[in-house]
Amino acid sequence: MEHRRETIAILGSTGSIGRSTLEIAARLNDKYRVTGLAAGSNVTLLLKQTAEFKPEIVSLRTERDAAEFRRRYKGGRVRVTFGPEGAVEVAGRSGNDIVVSAITGIDGLGPTLAAVKAGKKVALANKESMVVAGAFLKREAARSKARIIPVDSEHSGVFQCLAGQKMESVSRVILTASGGPFFRTPLGEIGRKTLDDALRHPRWRMGKKVTVDSATLMNKGLELIEARWLFDLDPARLDVLIHPQSIVHSLVEMRDGSVLAQLSRTDMKVPIQYALTYPEREVSPLPALDLSRIGPLEFHRVDERKFPLFALARTVLEEGESLPVALNAANEAVVGAFLAGGVRFGALAGLVERCLAAHVKRPVRNITEVFDIDRETRETAKIILKQRT
Ligand SMILES: NC(=O)c1ccc[n+]([C@@H]2O[C@H](COP(=O)([O-])OP(=O)(O)OC[C@H]3O[C@@H](n4cnc5c(N)ncnc54)[C@H](OP(=O)(O)O)[C@@H]3O)[C@@H](O)[C@H]2O)c1
Repeated sequence: MEHRRETIAILGSTGSIGRSTLEIAARLNDKYRVTGLAAGSNVTLLLKQTAEFKPEIVSLRTERDAAEFRRRYKGGRVRVTFGPEGAVEVAGRSGNDIVVSAITGIDGLGPTLAAVKAGKKVALANKESMVVAGAFLKREAARSKARIIPVDSEHSGVFQCLAGQKMESVSRVILTASGGPFFRTPLGEIGRKTLDDALRHPRWRMGKKVTVDSATLMNKGLELIEARWLFDLDPARLDVLIHPQSIVHSLVEMRDGSVLAQLSRTDMKVPIQYALTYPEREVSPLPALDLSRIGPLEFHRVDERKFPLFALARTVLEEGESLPVALNAANEAVVGAFLAGGVRFGALAGLVERCLAAHVKRPVRNITEVFDIDRETRETAKIILKQRT
């Protein structure tokens, strides 16, 4: 009798994480079957993925995208849906065992929450949902028995180091950062950098939003907030070190002086595969890590004068309440304007700071309030961005 393959739904299947996940699913075809795909507007790639993986349901961002998909689709039966409700349906469907959450930004929150509420194993790449709603996602997961397994390489590293450890024995968790394209750029020159410069990441090939966040180091700030919720850690026990080689993904310092580290090649297929197969491990298609060929591994402190958005995110982590939601919304809006060509790199931090200065910090009581604060901050950002042009 054929053994039952685990079923996977991928949110953001046409993106960088989504495509890598499908490569793994294709290689581990005897273990996994892809049953759902949610994408934004890349109809052509979703058609190709649907032909290859034969999911039962696909979703696109808009009704127009869905209509185009239906018109061009020549394969067998597939349910085609769209919009936020479509992605939520893909995520929460009873046929999925595993949901890979890899839509960018707060748009990933609704579907991630649906997967958590439905008690799925959630492979979480969409850090923004943990940043803005970590407390609610954790509470729902405890209720539904969902498992949230991190995909972010740093958090996957921490997750692996913490296996079998008692949290009271952990004195500090240190996430590493490559430092992005401007780590070695003198302070006085960073402001003049362009969109092309910011998108030229030295180590990772990722979607544009996360690549810009890596250039400002906001990405590392968001990851600190993500780690605070994922591992239930007091902000004082969280730290960051710049490690330009991106081989050590995180370090866990124990109270007896031991430091545990997770090392792997700079390839997201390693943490994605681990999240899928956890608690098992499968053979990797990548060559083994050969430290003798990598050379010296460096570690540096973050220069917060060069990366003011990292410093801002640290403050937000410490102050909590509604600030992470406002920070995330302001950052998404300002980075969106930068990607559209309307803002200089040197102006990013000031604009996000102005949005936060206009925000009145308050407790967040439920998910509806998360979306309200997100919307309110985007309105503020729109006004601030308009004022400058
Ligand atoms: N890439 C990495 O190495 C990496 C590492 C760690 C964490 N992450 C996190 O993983 C997430 C995805 O990153 P990425 O680099 O894969 O981004 P990406 O390449 O830009 O892909 C984003 C995906 O989300 C889809 N999407 C965007 N808005 C959508 C919406 N409203 N509804 C449905 N689908 C939507 C896009 O669809 P279309 O392209 O079809 O429009 C695409 O499939 C982010 O939260 C990022 O921070 C990424």
